[in-house]
Amino acid sequence: MINRILLLTGAACAVGLAGCATSHRVSTDVQPFGTTTNGEAVNVYTLHNSKGCEARILNYGGIVVSLTMPDRDGKLGDVVLGFDNFAPYQSNSPYFGALIGRYGNRIANGKFMLDQKTYTLAQNNGPNNLHGGPVGFDKVIWDVKPIHTKAGPALKLHYLSKDGDQGFPGNLDVTAVYTLTDDDSLRLDYTAKTDKPTICNLTQHSYFNLAGEGDILNHELQIFADRFTPVNSTQIPTGELRPVKGTPFDFTTPTKIGAHINDDDQQIKYGGGYDHNFVLNKMPGDLSLAARVTDPESGRVLEVWTTQPGLQFYSGNFIGDLPGKYGIEYHNRSGFALESQHFPDSPNHPEFPSTVLRPGETYHSTIIYRFKTQP
Ligand code: GLA
Repeated sequence: MINRILLLTGAACAVGLAGCATSHRVSTDVQPFGTTTNGEAVNVYTLHNSKGCEARILNYGGIVVSLTMPDRDGKLGDVVLGFDNFAPYQSNSPYFGALIGRYGNRIANGKFMLDQKTYTLAQNNGPNNLHGGPVGFDKVIWDVKPIHTKAGPALKLHYLSKDGDQGFPGNLDVTAVYTLTDDDSLRLDYTAKTDKPTICNLTQHSYFNLAGEGDILNHELQIFADRFTPVNSTQIPTGELRPVKGTPFDFTTPTKIGAHINDDDQQIKYGGGYDHNFVLNKMPGDLSLAARVTDPESGRVLEVWTTQPGLQFYSGNFIGDLPGKYGIEYHNRSGFALESQHFPDSPNHPEFPSTVLRPGETYHSTIIYRFKTQP
């Protein structure tokens, strides 16, 4: 049974917003989606904007299960990878659609030092810690509250990560607000506070395929970054900020993802394709355009905006063969992720922008996935 917990119409129509006259209701529904192996109830919340677009989001991991956006003919299609039912999200998901914390990306050897103290984290990716450890923010139940904002229907997710959780110091109180705006953006605003000095680097791990199926090698990508952070054989940055010019990492002009993905290049080999952090051209903290992706077939365009200094472009190199939504089988390169974040392993690179969060400070970051079309 659908429980329509929030129903807001009228207001938007009264002011004559484009598309509203054709009667889409701005609302949020909640439905059961499954049960974790610990017996916790998993619900799916569906945000509907005034254009008829939908974002379906779980209380488990804050996972975006589906996101529908129009193609150039106005036809809605699901642009993110995911599963039809809950179980694989818990047992076998490459972070599909999830909130990621406390530390997005890798920390070398699962160790870092803060204020002269060494902290040890799980090594869940070769010798390194990845995406906050085995039970990161993608694998916990968040408290969810539907809210309405001027920009569109929203979900406020809250999680308290206890002092020592996955080895990280301090109680970290995190709020993540997803808003499905009426201009076809899915926006994520994070805030976090701690009661002990800690590190914090939060991101979001949706995999996109703007055509809805097939591989993403024909999608054209532009990344607003003149440099990237080359890695060693375990994908830890060497510390160098290398110019992209003349390398397969030059996406300064729109370039097909597949154009250089198999080049004979050491960095491409280390990542099995693209799995690298780009140093965004920007003023620190500005909400700026990080990347634009276009799918020539459907005409869909995705822009990624962020306040973060870095963007991990992951070309889905290790998705494997997974039974996805609508009976579609996913493979390597069926989707790509653009994870806006601080640079990988920053706690062990004092020369990188700092990820330290201290009591009395508030961590803020914003990610916007904005959709458009082109002829
Ligand atoms: C990040 C990592 C990748 C991979 C994906 C999820 O992008 O850098 O190596 O772990 O997450 O599988």
